[in-house]
Amino acid sequence: MDDTPVKDLTEKEAARALAQLAMDITFHNARYHGEDDPAISDAAFDALVRRNEAIETRFPHLIRKDSPSRQVGAKASSKFAKVQHRVRMLSLGNAFNEEDVTEFLARIRRFLKADEDTQIALMAEPKIDGLSISLRYEDGALVQAATRGDGSEGEDVTANIRTIEEIPQTLVGDVPAVCEIRGEIYMSKADFTALNERQIAEEKSAFANPRNAAAGSLRQLDPSITASRPLKFFAYAWGDMSALPFAAHSEALEWLENLGFPTNPLSKRCNSVADLLSVYKHIEIVRGELEYDIDGVVYKVDDLALQDRLGFVAKAPRWAIAHKFPAEKAITVLLGIDIQVGRTGALTPVAKLEPVTVGGVVVSNATLHNEDEIARKDVRIGDHVRIQRAGDVIPQVIEPLLEKRPKGAQPFEYPTHCPVCGSEAVREDGEVVRRCTGGLICNAQVVERLKHFVSRRAFDIEGLGSKHIAAFHEDGLVQSPADIFRIKVQRGALDGKEGWGDQSIDNLISAIEERRTIALDRFLFGLGIRHVGEVTARDLAKAFETLGAIEDIARSEGGAEALSDVDGIGTVVAEAIVAFFHEPQNRAVVDDLRSELTIEPYKNEQTGSTFEGQTLVFTGSLEQLSRAEAKSQAEKLGAKVSGSVSSKTSLVIAGPGAGSKLKKAEELGVEVIDEEEWIRRTAGSLN
Ligand code: IVH
Repeated sequence: MDDTPVKDLTEKEAARALAQLAMDITFHNARYHGEDDPAISDAAFDALVRRNEAIETRFPHLIRKDSPSRQVGAKASSKFAKVQHRVRMLSLGNAFNEEDVTEFLARIRRFLKADEDTQIALMAEPKIDGLSISLRYEDGALVQAATRGDGSEGEDVTANIRTIEEIPQTLVGDVPAVCEIRGEIYMSKADFTALNERQIAEEKSAFANPRNAAAGSLRQLDPSITASRPLKFFAYAWGDMSALPFAAHSEALEWLENLGFPTNPLSKRCNSVADLLSVYKHIEIVRGELEYDIDGVVYKVDDLALQDRLGFVAKAPRWAIAHKFPAEKAITVLLGIDIQVGRTGALTPVAKLEPVTVGGVVVSNATLHNEDEIARKDVRIGDHVRIQRAGDVIPQVIEPLLEKRPKGAQPFEYPTHCPVCGSEAVREDGEVVRRCTGGLICNAQVVERLKHFVSRRAFDIEGLGSKHIAAFHEDGLVQSPADIFRIKVQRGALDGKEGWGDQSIDNLISAIEERRTIALDRFLFGLGIRHVGEVTARDLAKAFETLGAIEDIARSEGGAEALSDVDGIGTVVAEAIVAFFHEPQNRAVVDDLRSELTIEPYKNEQTGSTFEGQTLVFTGSLEQLSRAEAKSQAEKLGAKVSGSVSSKTSLVIAGPGAGSKLKKAEELGVEVIDEEEWIRRTAGSLN
């Protein structure tokens, strides 16, 4: 590769270089993807791609039609190997005020049946604004580092992590054979400023904030780039461990520190809500002087045995919460209000703003929630508005500044028809949202459903982002989700399309083929059934294991009731599922997909307990355990908990005051035990 600095190239040289790079990159791409026989290292390949990018940034008018930067999915450089986390990487629930923190602790007490006099120790520590990482050590040696990804599957960034000085390559001493150490990778504020100055000097784009800079630096295919970026680390958690050499979070932090991991010096042990709040206030005061960005304080129950009893709800632990710092605010002008149509037809107003920096990020869109909010706040186009942005939450419009209202500004008239298909948009009783009634005749809904289908948490097809799927829909190539799996028979339709070359089409097709086999929960989530998010999709998959079973139940008489028996599924959700599977258009979409795909049944974890696969019912009051803890124990043992007794019930646990359910169990001859007996039977198998 010619290594004349990009800034010294003449226009002629740049054009020649781009032509050469287009040829070289195409060639190496083919060797890498097509023939699986790369001729150069990933690092050398990346260097080519980067040089191409740099020249194009400087001479945008020279960008070639066949430029590698225009080839979708051709970037071998966007490939990191996937890593399955052996222990899921969870996120945290949020608290925004003192009340939320009080409720967090009250909830813990209720779950544990612990009264006010029982002291529950907690740790308070800064919430570092970086990206989480899991470091796997085997026999003391660092063997793998993975990003969080979706919590179950992350990306292998081992080579890059090895360049970070603060992370030990080996653990010295008597450590468990397997140790997964987790924590946050971040960039200090000073290093971020210096990096951006360098980027600008080199005519590269600047990063919006230290977190983006850290993420961008870690996700480099060329580890030598990561090495040139000063990344740091704080350890605060762990995943898969062959043994636990500590019994409390505070002890874990000490243990980590002794092994040479940086731990945060502001972490403190607390004994009450008042203690937690005083640590919060202290951290909030010193926040500005810290070398790194933080966006709140995390509270964690200290005792690991209690953590274990408390367990998890959906994707976050019951034993921890993030107390966020208040949002940052700014004032700007409302230029317009766009009405977007979502995949369920919901109309959402989006504020178009004069770009303004809020807490280090440039904001030009903000949510206005819904039509009632616009009316309540009386926000008018042309107004100066106060907006706020909190951490990772979408920016919001708080209020207009009335004293600055331009003359003649009119109240906003919310549309009564879909701005995309023109169908009537209606608000059902008790709903705040107005919805387009066009269903699948509404292009916006069709496209949004397709985008959802291919999104990261659903089918996650590499190289097929929302822009591509929208273009494919517009071209008539993809009308319904199953069409994606027929693209390969229509590849001729892609040939010659702008941005698509032979190689990128091949890449796309192989990425699609990889997803022809799909896990049931991802599939269900991908369908975009109203109210069925990732967690509900997983609950459904867990409870019914196959798509056929879910369809059968949804179409059977009393389907909604049976569905709402499943833990985590309420009546509204159950009704939405039933409605979805009754609608002929949806049935056709599902059947069409079934003919293209292999949908893997959900494999419930084998716990080896005698309760595995059983359906249990708790009734009456429990004295030692809270209802929530009893239920969580049953689930840990692989049992399902149901709210009603039927012939499918395996066991009823009845306490004082049990009534009709106990009677029904007796009539049906279902075994009934009391709380004492439940505790005795489960004692050995919990933990
Ligand atoms: S504990 C099971 N502690 O916050 C709980 N997380 O919103 C695991 N984070 O994904 C997280 N500082 O990336 C924990 N002291 C801290 C943290 C922290 C930052 C991040 C982490 C996590 C996210 C959750």
